[in-house]
Amino acid sequence: PSDEHARWKRDAAEHAAEWVRSGMVVGLGAGSTADFALRSIASRLASGALFDVLGVPCSRAVGDAAARLGVPLTTLEAHPVVDLTIDGADEVDPTFALLKGAGGALLHEKIVAQASRREVIVVDASKPSPCIGTRCALPVEVVPFGWRAEALYLESLGARVRVRSGASGAPFRTDEDNLILDCELGPIRAAHELSRRLAERAGIVEHGLFLDLATDLVIAGADGVRHLTR
Ligand code: A5P
Repeated sequence: PSDEHARWKRDAAEHAAEWVRSGMVVGLGAGSTADFALRSIASRLASGALFDVLGVPCSRAVGDAAARLGVPLTTLEAHPVVDLTIDGADEVDPTFALLKGAGGALLHEKIVAQASRREVIVVDASKPSPCIGTRCALPVEVVPFGWRAEALYLESLGARVRVRSGASGAPFRTDEDNLILDCELGPIRAAHELSRRLAERAGIVEHGLFLDLATDLVIAGADGVRHLTR
């Protein structure tokens, strides 16, 4: 992404990070945009402007980054209600439907989103889309056992399926040691219906359709920062 996009990501993330208050349990999303929010929270904690904040990381990598930045962490077991989560997305549509999971953290991101009072999605101007699926493949997390049967099922729904590979060329493994099948579907017009079809399958753990979860969208672009609420 260009410097401009990086700046917009930071603008959106810093806007949302201002909503973090002392005493809050905060969900820490994955990806480069959410990372700007983490850094902003960390610097307010370091300066003393913010205190008693506990972070719930949405991935192991985010947990490591937060620890390095000195952000105190907790778990959903200890704090099953999250006040505010700040996370990114890969595509967002006008109804607040999101496509997520390019970073592979979708399962923990969705668990944290469902546990959050407020789910704030921070994106740059490249992410809004008339219909999710237009630009990005839908990531589907499957258990390794029998994964090819799930791939066939996804193909029967019209998807072109690719097994995501990791840095070493071997299949990518999620924090829960599952596989990701990236499914090219084109524009997903019946997202709730698709979500139900995916939920029927035992081997499909989760997927990157985040429907009725985002409470706030913060979109930054050349014309500044826009905040939309559902
Ligand atoms: C992680 O699994 C994804 O859902 C991220 O939220 C998404 O990929 C956004 O990443 P960027 O903020 O780096 O674009």
